[in-house]
Amino acid sequence: MKLAIVIMAAGKGTRLKSKRSKVLHEIGGKPLLTHVIASASRIVPPEDIYVVVGHEAAQVENAVKDTGVKFVHQTEQRGTGHAIQTAQEAVRGYDSLLVLSGDVPLLKPETIAELRDFHLGQQAAMTILTASPGDPTGYGRVLRKNVNSPEVTAIVEQKALTPEQQSVREINSGIYAFQAAPLFAHIDELTNNNAHGEYYLTDIAALLVKAGDRVAAFEAANPAEVLGANTIAEMMELDRVLRMETARNLMANGVTILRPETTVIDATVEVGADTVIEPFVQLLGETRIGEDCRVRSYSVIENSTIADKVLVRQGCVILDSKIETGALIGPFSHLRPGSEIGEGAHVGNFVETKKAKLGKGAKANHLTYLGDAEIGSGTNVGAGVITCNYDGVHKHRTLIGESVFVGSDSTLVAPLTIGNGAYIAAGSCITEDVPDDALALGRSRQTTKEGWATLKRRPEEKA
Ligand code: UD1
Ligand code: CA
Repeated sequence: MKLAIVIMAAGKGTRLKSKRSKVLHEIGGKPLLTHVIASASRIVPPEDIYVVVGHEAAQVENAVKDTGVKFVHQTEQRGTGHAIQTAQEAVRGYDSLLVLSGDVPLLKPETIAELRDFHLGQQAAMTILTASPGDPTGYGRVLRKNVNSPEVTAIVEQKALTPEQQSVREINSGIYAFQAAPLFAHIDELTNNNAHGEYYLTDIAALLVKAGDRVAAFEAANPAEVLGANTIAEMMELDRVLRMETARNLMANGVTILRPETTVIDATVEVGADTVIEPFVQLLGETRIGEDCRVRSYSVIENSTIADKVLVRQGCVILDSKIETGALIGPFSHLRPGSEIGEGAHVGNFVETKKAKLGKGAKANHLTYLGDAEIGSGTNVGAGVITCNYDGVHKHRTLIGESVFVGSDSTLVAPLTIGNGAYIAAGSCITEDVPDDALALGRSRQTTKEGWATLKRRPEEKA
């Protein structure tokens, strides 16, 4: 049996009121379509997956082309039935089709496999994946021959429900298995004589039944898996479900997440046991956090690697960076891409780093900018120190050795090298290299005028 998966993803998503294609809207940090393709790829290889694209087709293709799936172009979106008509040529040669919706992203591969197996077991022309959620409003309803029968007579869209049909709670998930031959034998019989003037794929159920073909229903065990995302509110509900699942998985592996409902954690994130994540933390992308860490509230960490026993205090932003064991970050530190914070190093409040490497035990505790810099182990960077890395045209590097003392409020004009064990006097503007163990002062000598203030207050005494 040759099986293909068709994913319908051409619609505009009018109910979203968005310029972007619906299937590119994200839940759990990834586009809806990416979730669907990931599940489909566990059932058939990507070359047997056909994505029907139309609205914003170029952007949609671009977003998922790395997966190796194929594309079918539905240039005018005349309904779900029309989407499958459009795919007919591309899927010629397959015996069976699984049809998925680009806007039903929580569907698990196990459920797709169960639908396929049930469909083959029933020898049905069409099998509909159904569910009975608490509130069926908005979904098409599935009419069975009788309550206990696997056989279906029709699918009725919400807007076409008769008063008696309003009580039917079993919904059409928009996911189906088909035998290709009967599907394509009857698909041209679809009409657009309905509320939206569209060719509904759902109407194929009654057409097949009329032709004497068997149409079956298979109810998903977990209705949450087949929820669709037609509005931003629905999408954010799915996002919540997905992220709560991620949080639960982390907690099952020994991570403490205080108030998980307030956190935003992508499914790609890994966290070690005995790490504590406080409320209102975001952990995004390819972030790895080790064991025994604590991430305090309001920190956002993206694509970063954090070793064990690291404390990230409140309000830090950490992007594309690496932090070694036992480091202390924050509160209110901004680690921009390419920051590498060494073992036991400290980065304190209002410190910004970019392409900056701090050695073991190095400290920059207050109000500092370190860009394109390398700071040796044990070096102390005083409050308010700035690396002047940009001359208006080019970026230059600042290299500071080990066990250096950089006095507060110094400006270090790159390119610049400061040797091991050197001292920089507070308030210096350093423009020349400093050798090992030297003291560099780059400021004007202080002038003190005794009695000057008294005279200013009582000028008559001047005479
Ligand atoms: C559809 C079903 C409904 C079911 C619901 C489940 C129909 C007529 N109705 O309704 O019974 O309960 O899904 O979520 O099918 N698409 C195309 N080309 C088009 C139109 C749509 O590719 O011309 C794609 C959309 O991008 C979307 C999917 O098909 O991914 C479903 O379309 P949508 O308009 O969201 O259908 P629903 O109204 O949700
Ligand atoms: Ca939908």
